[in-house]
Amino acid sequence: MKFSKLIADRYAEEIDLDFSKIQETVILKSILSRRSIRKFLNKPISKELLTLLLAASQSAPSKSNLQQYSILVIQDQNIKNEISDLIGNTKWALTAPIFLIYLADIRRNMKITNDRGYDHKNNNVDTFMNSVIDAALAMQSTICAAESIGLGVCPISMIRNIIEEVKVICELPKGVFPIAGLAIGWPDEKSKISIRLSQDIVTHLDKYNEKDLINKINKYDAKVFKKDPIPEKRQRHIDLYGVAKKGTWSENISRQLSIPERSHFKNWLKKNGFNLE
Ligand SMILES: Cc1cc2nc3c(=O)[nH]c(=O)nc-3n(C[C@H](O)[C@H](O)[C@H](O)COP(=O)(O)O)c2cc1C
Repeated sequence: MKFSKLIADRYAEEIDLDFSKIQETVILKSILSRRSIRKFLNKPISKELLTLLLAASQSAPSKSNLQQYSILVIQDQNIKNEISDLIGNTKWALTAPIFLIYLADIRRNMKITNDRGYDHKNNNVDTFMNSVIDAALAMQSTICAAESIGLGVCPISMIRNIIEEVKVICELPKGVFPIAGLAIGWPDEKSKISIRLSQDIVTHLDKYNEKDLINKINKYDAKVFKKDPIPEKRQRHIDLYGVAKKGTWSENISRQLSIPERSHFKNWLKKNGFNLE
């Protein structure tokens, strides 16, 4: 598929630029056309392929090469079952042949620093954030690699709704927490592309600019609503707010953001080795 078509699909809008001179690489086409997959074939992923996918994670950039993340490869069927039983509607994720859990990990370098005879004086919010960024980039690197060879994936932040249980099941020590799971498998569905905010909303030229924001969002809502309105079953908090007159993106995210989510998370982190100073 041509870049112009891929871009038009991503924004539900033609872009008046000539992309024809740009080399069409597999990876770029794969990134531009990506969509999450939530249904997988019962077909294994070889040890060799898994090794490559994990190496892709580790090839991501890492703040000062501190490598402050770890990856849990969940293989034991009993552990899969335990997580699956706890995760409600997200059970399908544990049917993927590979389920990874990306961990922000400030623990390993604390141990290394102490072992070398130094005091570790960076258990702070900056290190917390760097570890989360490292883990997220590692996950994204595997997402790109997996999708470029035809695998389907879906990140799973639902894992943080059961963070205490995951800690116990997977024996996570202090200074380590799951940022997200990642289900990986051969796709058994053709999901729809998710239309993104237009570039003039998300990118800013030299200076941050909110001019006409709400008008631009209204236009985006209209485009998405025309192609892919949010059905009742995917609308947030209809118990509180009722069914939306129009299932638009902005209505849905506003409903979602009006109710606090995971409000115990900071306390959990503080109890589990992250000082967040
Ligand atoms: C950090 C993160 C956590 C996510 N957690 C979940 C999840 O728990 N369950 C789920 O179904 N999708 C989850 N997703 C997938 C998003 O819902 C999805 O990326 C988004 O709706 C856009 O769709 P697309 O990936 O097909 O473009 C997550 C995505 C990210 C980046």
